[in-house]
Amino acid sequence: MSSELEALIRTIPDYPKPGIMFRDITTLLQHPKGLKLSVDGLAEKFSREEIDLVAGIEARGFILGGAVAHVLGKGFVPIRKKGKLPHVTLSQEYALEYGVDHVEVHADACKPGQKVLVIDDLIATGGTAEAGLNLIRRLGGVLVGAGFVIDLPELGGAERLRKAGVHVESLVS
Ligand code: PRP
Ligand code: ADE
Repeated sequence: MSSELEALIRTIPDYPKPGIMFRDITTLLQHPKGLKLSVDGLAEKFSREEIDLVAGIEARGFILGGAVAHVLGKGFVPIRKKGKLPHVTLSQEYALEYGVDHVEVHADACKPGQKVLVIDDLIATGGTAEAGLNLIRRLGGVLVGAGFVIDLPELGGAERLRKAGVHVESLVS
């Protein structure tokens, strides 16, 4: 299955900057079987876990996370970039290549003790995912795990999360 998915991911060299091999999932998302394999594949990886909510990280994590939540029959929590959520938020800083940014979640997005699965399209350094996981924990949520379509292992993010005890799953490496 992973080779089928891999073939649907387009690689754009030197985007958005020289030296970056950008893994573009739009080609996978627009392919009916590609989208289904991705969403069902992620849901299957966590099918033995008890889950109350699925959280997705803006922007590409919304597409996959919303669909995974639907397949699992759970609600969806958006983890958004700074300044996009209208109600009271919790904010978490994370490192970018140059400088920092923030992701945010509504303060009432999950109740203490609720079991939350976090979904994004891709893990590279793991900075974005780690910030998302921290937000869930700060809300009192119990982190079930983190699922990604793509892991870029040379950047070490998935390994770092695993070493910290997070159940990390990906479909393509
Ligand atoms: C991409 C991707 C992940 C993040 C992974 O998002 O969708 O969220 O980078 O990188 P990291 O593991 O090094 O943190 P991006 O920040 O490009 O935002 P977008 O989804 O809004 O395009
Ligand atoms: N986010 C961080 N690194 C990326 C890459 N190489 N391709 C797509 N999204 C990314």
